[in-house]
Amino acid sequence: MKKQIEKIRSAAEKEIQKAQNSQAIENLRIKYLGRKGKLTRLIRKISQIPQDRRQEIGLSVNETKKKIQLALIKQTQITKRKRKAKIAWVDTTAPGQLPLVGHLHPTTLAFREIWPLFEKLGFTLVSYPEVEWEQLAFEALNMPTDHPARDDFETFFLNTKPNPKWGRMVLTPHTSSGQIREMRRVGPPIRMINIAKCYRPNWDNTHTPMFHQFEGLVVDKNINLTHLKGIFDYFAKNFYGPERKIRLRPSHFQFTEPSFEVDINCPLCRGKGCRVCNSGWHELGGAGMVHPQVLKNGGVNPKRYSGFAFGWGVERTYMMKSNLKLNDIRILYENDLRFVEQF
Ligand code: PHE
Repeated sequence: MKKQIEKIRSAAEKEIQKAQNSQAIENLRIKYLGRKGKLTRLIRKISQIPQDRRQEIGLSVNETKKKIQLALIKQTQITKRKRKAKIAWVDTTAPGQLPLVGHLHPTTLAFREIWPLFEKLGFTLVSYPEVEWEQLAFEALNMPTDHPARDDFETFFLNTKPNPKWGRMVLTPHTSSGQIREMRRVGPPIRMINIAKCYRPNWDNTHTPMFHQFEGLVVDKNINLTHLKGIFDYFAKNFYGPERKIRLRPSHFQFTEPSFEVDINCPLCRGKGCRVCNSGWHELGGAGMVHPQVLKNGGVNPKRYSGFAFGWGVERTYMMKSNLKLNDIRILYENDLRFVEQF
C-alpha cells in the first residue's frame, strides 16, 4: 500500500507541474483528491489494513494529501504570475506610436517667419484692435465721410451708437489705423510692425473677407523713398530668396504721397508672364511716404519728420513663396484638415 501511495504522489506532482491554467489544476484536484479521486479511494481502504500498520499508512496518506494540496496551490500561483507577465509584456524594440499633436496654421507660420525679419531691424511689434473707430480707420487717414476712397475699405460696421468723437465702430478694414495709434502712443522715432486681422467684403481666389495684414511704419528725421525701397529689397531677399525681385508701381492712397503698389515677381515664371500671374508679377500690398497731414493727425511735426508706411497681406505674402503654390487663398480658412495638416 505504501508503494501505491508513493506512486500516486509522484504521478500527481508531475501532472500538476504541467498544468497550465486553473481549469487543468482543478481537474487534477478532482482526479486525486475529489470524492472519487485516486487518493480518496485509497483512504477508504485504510479500514481493511491490519491494525498494527494502520497508523503508519494513515500518516503517510495524510502527508501525501498535504503535499498534493501544496503542489496545487503552488501551481495556481505560478500560472497566475505567468498570465500577468504575459499581459504586462512590452516589446521595447517595437516602433513607438506617435501621439497626435496639433500644429500651427499656415498663417501663424507666416507670421512667425515675417516678424523676426523686422525684429532684426529694430522694429517694435504691436497688434492693434480688431474693432476700430471710424475716426482712426478713415478720417485720420485723409478719408473723410463721403470720400470715394472709402469705398475700398468701408465694410462691416457694428450696430452701436456712434461716439461723438470717434464715430462708428467698424471691423478693422486695414492695419493703417495702427499708424495713427502708434504715432500718438510713442511719437518719433518710430519703427513699428502692426500685425492684425482685417475685414473686407471680398470673396474670390485671392481674397477672403477676414485676412491678416502687417503694417510697417518708420518715422524719423530725413526718412526718404530709398529707405522704403531698401527695406523691401531686404525683405524680398530674406523672405523669398536672393533670386526674387520686388517692384514699386505708382498708385494712390489717401494717406501716403507718393503711393505705390508693391509687387513680387512670380515664383513660377520669374517675371516673364504665365497662366497664374498673367503679368509676371503678383501684388503684395500698398506702400508710400506718409502724407504730411497724416503725420499731423498722429501728432508728429511734418516739417521735422518724415516717414514711410506699407501694408501687406500676410496670407498673400506667404503664398508667393516659391515652394507654396496655392491657386486659391480661401482654402486657408475652410478648415479642411487634408489641407492644413500638410504644413
Ligand atoms: N492700407 C492699405 C490697404 O489696405 C495699404 C497701405 C498701407 C498703403 C500703408 C500705403 C501705406 O490696401
